[in-house]
Amino acid sequence: MGTLYKEEPLILPLLGFPIILLTDLSTMENEKGENSSTFKMGSSAQERSLPYVPDCYVVPPSCEPRDARHSNSQIVPTIDVSRLRGSDDERRGVIQELSSACQLFGFFQVVNHGINQNILDDALAVANGFFEQPAKEKKKFMSNDVYAPVRYTTSIKDGLDIIQFWRIFLKHYAHPLHRWIHLWPENPPGYREKMGKFCEEVRRLSLEIMEAITESLGLGRDYLSSRMDENGMQVMAVNCYPPCPDPETALGLPPHSDYSCITILLQNLTGLEIFDPTAHGGSGRWVLVPEVKGVLKVHIGDHVEVLSNGLYKSVVHKVTLNEEKTRISLASLHSLGMDDKMTVPYQLVNDENPVRYRESSFNDFLDFLVKNDISQGDRFIDTLRIKD
Ligand code: OGA
Ligand code: NI
Repeated sequence: MGTLYKEEPLILPLLGFPIILLTDLSTMENEKGENSSTFKMGSSAQERSLPYVPDCYVVPPSCEPRDARHSNSQIVPTIDVSRLRGSDDERRGVIQELSSACQLFGFFQVVNHGINQNILDDALAVANGFFEQPAKEKKKFMSNDVYAPVRYTTSIKDGLDIIQFWRIFLKHYAHPLHRWIHLWPENPPGYREKMGKFCEEVRRLSLEIMEAITESLGLGRDYLSSRMDENGMQVMAVNCYPPCPDPETALGLPPHSDYSCITILLQNLTGLEIFDPTAHGGSGRWVLVPEVKGVLKVHIGDHVEVLSNGLYKSVVHKVTLNEEKTRISLASLHSLGMDDKMTVPYQLVNDENPVRYRESSFNDFLDFLVKNDISQGDRFIDTLRIKD
């Protein structure tokens, strides 16, 4: 998947010396005199609601911005997590369902998660309220520094990556809440309170799911609990995808996987698609994740792929766009502490299963993000894989 749509450099062997022809698309201007730096944050095409899609937003056809085979949403597994708190038999049942969803897709939906619908609605409403404010209010948080604990920006690394994405987002740390909440936007009024409540509830759910994940791997329920509870990171990606004049050519986010252990996502509309790598005899297919009110989505991230030594798959996903409506999503990314390294547990290693991944932390991911271009298919997990 790492090479999903990465163009290979053209290598011409000439007198034994390879000549590498690389085209720097980021500085290539089109006939309108536009390139990706024309659309830097604060004046991006999606913030300005341009009536056309500039060339630097056009993704290669291999990205399949609009995949025709979309009648397959029903295959996305749904798990009733209230049974984790039920009898031993019920808990065992859920853990089995969870284990197969993690192996097959690295993705599942959760119902009966215990988070009140009002809390979900309020969080989506204040997120939408933030993006609806005048540019001046949002620009207070504008930053392209991936290490900043609160930042407003567009695309992934706007103006820097070769291809730009039709997304506006606010990213902020969320745990421990008291350490970060005073840095969050004060406007719209209620943002801190409503988003804070949502973050706390989602975090509780993430710990419950992580306990079930470590249990399903035979590591026991408490294998990571204290590390995640005490200094674990929670990063909120508050995403806004404005209507796009040509959803056939651009994407909200390119195919990628999350660095996290797990990501819990709430959306107001469909648009999220996951990649099912086993379909069509191994060539794979995209699956549109359905939107059902109150249902939360759980992505397995790179750090659980490492934790499981490759048994569980960190799901490759992307965001498609629509012409009419603004899509809002709240992605809550849960991981170990900033410098706490995820390693393959010795319990999962034997002669048939050697260690398949290097250790890494959230900070290592941020370093990767600075140096790499996710728009070109670069994947963090590929840098962790130990080749046989
Ligand atoms: C992300 C992400 C999906 C979405 O923020 O990493 O994949 O639906 N978001 O916005
Ligand atoms: Ni993601």
